Amino acid sequence: MSWVEEAKRRAAEEAVQHVEDGSIVGLGSGSTAAYAIRLLGERLRRGELKTLLGVPTSLQAATEAVEAGIPLTTLEEHPAVDVAIDGADQLDGRLNLIKGGGGALLREKIVASCSKLYVIVADERKLARRLGEGCPIPLEVHPMAVKPLLLRLREMGAKASVRMGGGKVGPVVTENGNLIVDAHFGPLEDPEGLEGRLRGIPGILETGLFLGYADVAYIGTKAGVRRLEASWRRR
Ligand code: A5P
Repeated sequence: MSWVEEAKRRAAEEAVQHVEDGSIVGLGSGSTAAYAIRLLGERLRRGELKTLLGVPTSLQAATEAVEAGIPLTTLEEHPAVDVAIDGADQLDGRLNLIKGGGGALLREKIVASCSKLYVIVADERKLARRLGEGCPIPLEVHPMAVKPLLLRLREMGAKASVRMGGGKVGPVVTENGNLIVDAHFGPLEDPEGLEGRLRGIPGILETGLFLGYADVAYIGTKAGVRRLEASWRRR
């Protein structure tokens, strides 16, 4: 296993310790969150946890959960999530995040917003001094709004493009039937201000800026795991 995969797994091992028996658990998307899902399955099989219900943030998370033997539920049945474990594309020292590299940002943010504890798992390559450094902000966009939005984002100084599919022709279509626009703004001076401006544009259904959501992050490094805690709490 490469050091990156080891680091992801080590971060996930710490994160799953937050899950108690009988919890409703938000299941994040991406390769690091997948380690956490598999480890939760192992805790169930070992009998450390007797019951657990997962709320998946994507088809990928749902598939991983089924393979791991984790029963699934919905926010309809369980609108309050005890703990969600999710990955990130980038995070800063304040535990603000960029997410959406896997196109699951809308569902991920919904689940994050319903979670009493939001735990991030990542490897050290994801840490940045400032959000936006070499990392675009994914936006989930209604298909009708794409062209005017691209023009608007360019006026705002971003290099923006519609995300194209791999293994299919044409754009990525999200699990909600929308498109993803990746907007490169460069290092962000004022992520909160930008989030406000983006959310004010009709057609942007959600942004990949997760500001003030994460409570704790486990960062797998070459040597071990770093724990970062938010200096504020959401609630
Ligand atoms: C999914 O939309 C993203 O928010 C993921 O959480 C992100 O891409 C992390 O993926 P990896 O853990 O595979 O880097």
